[in-house]
Amino acid sequence: MPAGYRKTLIRQIGQHAHSEIVGQLPEGNWITRAPTLERKAILLAKVQDEAGHGLYLYCAAETLGVSRDELTEKLLDGRMKYSSIFNYPTLNWADMGAVGWLVDGAAILNQVPLQRTSFGPYARAMVRVCKEESFHARQGFDVMRKMATGTPAQQKMAQDALNRLWFPALMMFGPSDAESTHSEQSMAWKIKMNSNDELRQKFVDQTVPQIEFLGLELPDAGIKWNEARGSYDYSDPDWSKFFDVIQGNGPCNVDRLAARNKAWKDGAWVRDGLLAHARKKAARKHAAE
Ligand SMILES: [Fe+2]
Ligand SMILES: [Fe+2]
Repeated sequence: MPAGYRKTLIRQIGQHAHSEIVGQLPEGNWITRAPTLERKAILLAKVQDEAGHGLYLYCAAETLGVSRDELTEKLLDGRMKYSSIFNYPTLNWADMGAVGWLVDGAAILNQVPLQRTSFGPYARAMVRVCKEESFHARQGFDVMRKMATGTPAQQKMAQDALNRLWFPALMMFGPSDAESTHSEQSMAWKIKMNSNDELRQKFVDQTVPQIEFLGLELPDAGIKWNEARGSYDYSDPDWSKFFDVIQGNGPCNVDRLAARNKAWKDGAWVRDGLLAHARKKAARKHAAE
């Protein structure tokens, strides 16, 4: 395996795994405050799925010769990144709808083509991940539908969540093709199957009719059907904001990393205990042989 291919995949899969894990934080924030027991059970299951996605992906990365601990340490001290979308706060219950609908919806568009990626362990992990992601997007849309057809106050919350998360969701596909540093090589290696702008356009085209179905206002005055292209025109996100969040200056970067560092520190005794148990078991097996 060429060294560059391995290195790029470790970065890509590692970053993907970290995003699944850190992505639990904005939604975990709402588990105890879900409006009904049913919504709570659904949200709990969804957040648990994301933990599972992180684990499949760390396992896929391990086959490239990097340990999960090593990847985790790189996340914790800032040497590795996670998706910038999780550095935004979730302010009201409608955000749980908008996150599932828009953020998981955007993730699906990124991940479906990865089922055909050239690295088998990554491609195979994506099969189950994508099935679960489509449940996530549907539950998000269902929360939005309920809010958007609810009381005027609920409709306002739904609109507010859409307005706040629209541009960050567009940014999830990465910078425009002209500015994306790794795109060309990754596409040649078939570890990236579509360009950033291509996926972003697909997202806009599938989401605008859903916004209209919900009866919400479009979050961007620049959205217009373009007959000639057979697609919606839309405004570009403010990329200076995107790079600012990537540099660590988003509204929640510090909180997210602090939460992960605390969890890692608090869990040390569990990891130590498991390792001690494994060592004892191995020694017993060895003695019996
Ligand atoms: Fe996920
Ligand atoms: Fe998800």
